[in-house]
Amino acid sequence: MTIAELLAEARALLKPREGMLFPEREARAFLAWLLGKDEAFVLAHPEHQVPEALVIRFREMVARRGKGEPFHLIVGFCPFFGREFAVAPGVLIPRPETELLLSAVLRLPLPPHPRVLDVGTGSGVLAVSLKCELPKATVVASDVSWQALHLARKNADKHQVTIGLALAHLASAWRGPFDLVVANLPYLPEAMRHRLPPELAFEDPRALFAGENGLTLVRSLIQDLPRLLEARGFAALELGEGQASVLISALPPQLEPQDVVYDLRGVERVLLLRKKQR
Ligand SMILES: C[S@@+](CC[C@H](N)C(=O)[O-])C[C@H]1O[C@@H](n2cnc3c(N)ncnc32)[C@H](O)[C@@H]1O
Repeated sequence: MTIAELLAEARALLKPREGMLFPEREARAFLAWLLGKDEAFVLAHPEHQVPEALVIRFREMVARRGKGEPFHLIVGFCPFFGREFAVAPGVLIPRPETELLLSAVLRLPLPPHPRVLDVGTGSGVLAVSLKCELPKATVVASDVSWQALHLARKNADKHQVTIGLALAHLASAWRGPFDLVVANLPYLPEAMRHRLPPELAFEDPRALFAGENGLTLVRSLIQDLPRLLEARGFAALELGEGQASVLISALPPQLEPQDVVYDLRGVERVLLLRKKQR
């Protein structure tokens, strides 16, 4: 079968909806990945004959995608900040919003050998990217999920960096002091559990929900920041809509807000905090 015929088949099966805005683009990306080419090749060669074994795999991938399975879980990897990370069932697929957090912390005036903690590391995207970007940093991370820690280790090995990992609630395994604490903890309110796009049903609920207003875990971590942070140390927290202002209004006295980073939709996505001198 040709590329054009396979894309027409996929078009009939995959329709745009929340969670899959550009199905044709996803189908092209599946084909490009299977053929070991880029999407420009798929666009430019509709007449190209696809080997039968790849046709079968393409149809399987499209069928899985049609049932809501996320694109990156099907191909087994996800790009993040210019690097490729392994993904696996049960561990949150890295989101583009989290790249905002990473960009923001890379602009901070950190010491030459920063001590960094990543709380709720998931696939390890933040911990591993930080160690890659700041090779002189000491990076440690925690999560409550064994699957997440296993995947974070795999991603650290893939990028040939060393990070410390602990199975622990929030930062309970670490003493500090740290120059930087980053966290993309679950921040969705429980009430959202029943009105999510199908893709999120493939994620571990522990990676998504945090109490009635989504802030249970982030609030606990913020209370622990005065213990964890070095004087003048920073924390960067990824958040959902409207959460930054709620948190800023009830900070422990040792902390001050440093900045809020907005995403392209105008959501207060990253809250930067700093520990006061004393
Ligand atoms: C939204 S995911 C983010 C994963 C990763 N940091 C990222 O940015 O892709 C939240 C992660 O926090 C972990 N988590 C949930 N509750 C936790 C807790 N009490 N202590 C530590 N980690 C927790 C989840 O297992 C999940 O891996």
